[in-house]
Amino acid sequence: MTEKIVLTGIKPTGDLHIGNYVGAIRPAISLIKEPDILPRYFIADYHALTTVQNREELHDRIYQIAAAWLAFGLDPEKVLFYRQSDIPEIFELSWILSCLSNKGLLNRAHAYKAKVDDNIANDRDQDNGVNMGLFNYPILMAADILMFNTDLVPVGKDQIQHIEIARDIAEHFNKTYGATFTLPEALIEEETAVIPGLDGRKMSKSYGNVIPLFAEEKQLRKTIFQIKTDSKTPEEPKNPKTSTLFEIYSAFADKTDTNSLAKRYEEGIGYGEVKQILFDTINEQIQEPRRLYNELINDIPRLDSLLQRGVERARDYAQPFMQEIRKKIGRY
Ligand code: ADP
Ligand code: TRP
Repeated sequence: MTEKIVLTGIKPTGDLHIGNYVGAIRPAISLIKEPDILPRYFIADYHALTTVQNREELHDRIYQIAAAWLAFGLDPEKVLFYRQSDIPEIFELSWILSCLSNKGLLNRAHAYKAKVDDNIANDRDQDNGVNMGLFNYPILMAADILMFNTDLVPVGKDQIQHIEIARDIAEHFNKTYGATFTLPEALIEEETAVIPGLDGRKMSKSYGNVIPLFAEEKQLRKTIFQIKTDSKTPEEPKNPKTSTLFEIYSAFADKTDTNSLAKRYEEGIGYGEVKQILFDTINEQIQEPRRLYNELINDIPRLDSLLQRGVERARDYAQPFMQEIRKKIGRY
């Protein structure tokens, strides 16, 4: 079997929460262990620039993401790990691809369209608050993906449209200039839970309902105890399927433990006790990565050398490929 190139990016836009861990970091780390996979994971810092326009914040968040990946066991020998903005070829490719992209295709991109729809619904100019980075976002993402001849892109369901746009653009380029780019496919882990937040909606930094991934023990416990529950008494039987606490628990516990907690719900268990069980379970799994994270986040030289190593390897790939692309479009 030939090896598959697997690529994904995380934007440094907010404090990492346990939803990011369960939905993105954990599956990406376990993917590394599978055979015939060539993993490329990167920090999408120039995508973050569409919203994070504060120097210190962007700087700090880039290092936070790098430290988080390392803390969860990313092995830089096995994974090509880099910061997007260190690879100028990606931005050159992004421009070329933008010239081959139909504007109508991008008008339909979810993030942009949602913003426009919201403006229209609120009687504002339709492009109010829309920067060109937001509009061009899918093209830069296509460049991220196509630059490395990616086969598979592990992402959440909300990103499927972006992968389809990348395919579309790749097909257009290939038709115009001859076979050049691999057509990428989204890798959606159907099994991966969508973690609910403190209020029961999807955990998201946009809703302010998150359990921070690297909160200190005390803070972690306090946040878990803030998860909303109904007002049933401890003795009353409860339905685990409609419980936010239970849903989060099942993303961290194995099948046997999950089943036995389900049984206790049906028999009647107090939410205080469930919260304590949930805290113990998460804390046990996060403890060691949290310790490593705290160590790494204060070791900027080590993070810099990780990123530096990534640049060299990534550009070893991107430079000759970009040269090939330039020739294809007539720059020789
Ligand atoms: P947020 O919703 O907090 O802004 P992002 O959109 O930056 O998070 O998501 C980064 C990654 O984490 C994506 O792969 C996304 O699918 C995953 N993710 C985010 N929130 C959750 C969640 N509640 N449950 C599972 N995965 C999530
Ligand atoms: N748009 C992705 C997100 O919001 C991040 C991202 C940027 C990405 N470039 C990518 C993901 C390339 C996969 C491949 O989560």
